[in-house]
Amino acid sequence: MGYDILSKVIELTDSTDALEKRLKDVANLLAHAFAFDQCAVYLSDQDKHVLTLAVAVGSKRGCQEEYKENEGLPGLAIKKGSPIFATQSKPPNETWQGILDKGTNGFKTVVCYPIKDDWLHGVLYLKNKEKKAVTLKEKKLLSVIVLQLATAIKNYQCIINLRDINTKMKDMQDRLVNAEKLLALGEMAASLAHEIKNPLVSIGGFAKRLSQQMNLDSPHMSYVDRIVKEVSRLEKLMDGIVHFSKDESYVFLSEDINIIIEEAVAFFEDDFKRNGIAVVKELSLHVPKIDVDRQHLKLVFNNLMTNAIQAMEKGGTLTIQTYQEGSWIVTEIHDTGGGIDPNIISNIFNPFYTTKETGTGLGLAITHSIITNHKGIIEVNNNIGVGVTFVIKLPLSDKEGRILKAS
Ligand SMILES: Nc1ncnc2c1ncn2[C@@H]1O[C@H](COP(=O)(O)OP(=O)(O)O)[C@@H](O)[C@H]1O
Ligand SMILES: [Mg+2]
Repeated sequence: MGYDILSKVIELTDSTDALEKRLKDVANLLAHAFAFDQCAVYLSDQDKHVLTLAVAVGSKRGCQEEYKENEGLPGLAIKKGSPIFATQSKPPNETWQGILDKGTNGFKTVVCYPIKDDWLHGVLYLKNKEKKAVTLKEKKLLSVIVLQLATAIKNYQCIINLRDINTKMKDMQDRLVNAEKLLALGEMAASLAHEIKNPLVSIGGFAKRLSQQMNLDSPHMSYVDRIVKEVSRLEKLMDGIVHFSKDESYVFLSEDINIIIEEAVAFFEDDFKRNGIAVVKELSLHVPKIDVDRQHLKLVFNNLMTNAIQAMEKGGTLTIQTYQEGSWIVTEIHDTGGGIDPNIISNIFNPFYTTKETGTGLGLAITHSIITNHKGIIEVNNNIGVGVTFVIKLPLSDKEGRILKAS
């Protein structure tokens, strides 16, 4: 009898059916083969420390849906780590030998096996209305059967986990493919921008020549002017796209930040005069040299000063300060252009965000990426109705030229 039942249990638990169906078939088999009125299998939830009824066959009387891992006879079997066999002449009422277990109501014999290997997987719970003895042979057979049940439950959970991992891997693979697509798109955008820029330069050059040769009162003058302006905007846009798409290399050399600022200010001298902008420089003579990429940093100051000039078309004051603050070299660029609308301030560093008719929306996005590549920080202090201060913090380097980790 023992071998037949065991091979049948193995056959049932090894099927490809859902776990519940397999457990139900086994429970039916056991109730029948061992002549019990009720056979239930509870599964353990390791996180919640509860046993939940998975299947129950035979008499439905008193079958609890859930046990805490320390509750009732299943709880006792788990605690002992070995099966419980109990019989008594009178069916108990809610308690069984002092243990509260409503599930024993109306049964004179109960058998409770923990289903476990290295882990607890659940409990096999057999009950009979009449008093009955379980032979040693039957006990041994049940011990082997619960081991087989433990293996089946573990394998099933492994498969579920594997499926889960597989889904996650597929998801990651999809995202990787998307990232590659984006990269390819970026490269395509860069080469397109490059291709477009060359004819643009010619168009802009010829339009400028045309405007120089035209009479100032020519009716076509405004058209030519428009071409020049739009072409220059498109050129800047193409430069920006190229900047974002290609992995630009940085050359970090020890530089005096004050000199880079002086050069940037000199570059805009005419614009400051034309717009009636006073420039106040408060550059600390004590700032040490830092490792920066000169060309990229120049672009940062150009972008910030261009924005300041555009914000102060009717005049104002541009104040530039440099100073050391701990392990940071700080540059503040302050304008009196009226500040930024608080409703849009969260967008200003986004690529292509612009409030200007001829803007590219790339100046601050590029500035941000350059400062980040220097392991620096850029902050904006907005004084509505007054002006904006952009604060750039760049980390000091040590004597060997390594950028110090800013505190
Ligand atoms: N100094 C400033 N004063 C007021 N607004 C500014 C200033 N700097 C930037 N902004 C706002 O941030 C937006 C984005 O700036 P930017 O990235 O340089 O692009 P663009 O100058 O081409 O518009 C601007 O359109 C403007 O609305
Ligand atoms: Mg700008």
